[in-house]
Amino acid sequence: MASEQLSLSELIDRQIRETGPMSIATFMGLALTHPREGYYTGADPLGAKGDFVTAPEISQMFGELIGFFVVNLWQQLGEPRSFTLLEPGPGRGTLMQDALRVAARAEGFLDACHLQLFETNPALKAQQAERLGQYKPYWADEIDAVADDPLIVVANEFFDALPIRQFVKAPDGWHERQVGLRDGKRTFGLSPTPIPGEAMPEAVRNADDGAIYEVNLAAADALQRLGKRIAAQRGAILAIDYGYADTQTGETLQAVRRHGFADALEAPGEADLSAHVDFGALARVAGDLGLRAEPLATQRDFLSRMGIVERASALARANPGQIETIAAALRRLTDSSEMGTLFKVFCASAGDLEPIGFA
Ligand SMILES: C[S@@+](CC[C@H](N)C(=O)[O-])C[C@H]1O[C@@H](n2cnc3c(N)ncnc32)[C@H](O)[C@@H]1O
Repeated sequence: MASEQLSLSELIDRQIRETGPMSIATFMGLALTHPREGYYTGADPLGAKGDFVTAPEISQMFGELIGFFVVNLWQQLGEPRSFTLLEPGPGRGTLMQDALRVAARAEGFLDACHLQLFETNPALKAQQAERLGQYKPYWADEIDAVADDPLIVVANEFFDALPIRQFVKAPDGWHERQVGLRDGKRTFGLSPTPIPGEAMPEAVRNADDGAIYEVNLAAADALQRLGKRIAAQRGAILAIDYGYADTQTGETLQAVRRHGFADALEAPGEADLSAHVDFGALARVAGDLGLRAEPLATQRDFLSRMGIVERASALARANPGQIETIAAALRRLTDSSEMGTLFKVFCASAGDLEPIGFA
């Protein structure tokens, strides 16, 4: 059968039968970004009717506060007449729309700003074009294909969507966790070849047998490419995502479908696959490039320092009929039982910048 006629599940199973079990990164890459049937190449997965809701879709306050953050950085850079504002994985364009509506009030900002987006999903690209068309965005095929001027990057829930690999500790070393077939059904298994502990980061080397270590090489690569540009051209990257501050063991790979958890292997292309971000690893990448990483902040602390409570009060005063909705959005974004502490804010910058919102 020609491969164009196979479904993504059939394609994956055929590849496993022909070449053996595949890494979780290969499976995740195909499930999320296969050109025809990948999760992030198909329909819009965001919002109440989709599989999950992200912070910018909860309230305009999120993007607006990021708009203030970006303007402040631009001012600290000396208000360059030309700079790139890049958003990888912009979703529906909501965050950037809210951010630029606020940033537009800073004189000279919009004239200086070259908006660049990096996106795989054609349906989302169309929505970005509709929402952000007035700012004349440019979509590059490579994440680091930017001009030579200062660079400010904003990424919300982008790094968690990049493919991870998993390794399981055993007495003879670490074995990669793979996706194989048993009785015709996709299942997890272990590579027979052990990898010596010395190949693993120091923080996990002495883990107990059975421990799982996840590594996101695609995230490290993306940050390295962007970080090189930031180190050479000045600027900063702000990344918000669920994750942890220090490299550690533990399994976080998850599948979400229609607002509920699902089996990660069952329906590739139909569920969102993601993993928590190892911000410790990203801080090491940034440090190696000579960037300064701020102490990782919780979303709650970052948004509070950026003035979300005051913003919510002002919005409520201007829209008395919306008081309940605004209060609910504030809770969702900042409460520790909701997104407040699960989500973290990472920032790395170059030059003598002092990004606001951090301790
Ligand atoms: C979880 S959504 C977050 C969207 C948006 N930032 C928000 O907060 O609503 C992930 C975004 O990254 C995009 N994306 C996922 N994998 C990508 C990849 N490998 N290259 C470029 N974009 C990707 C998705 O299409 C989507 O726009």
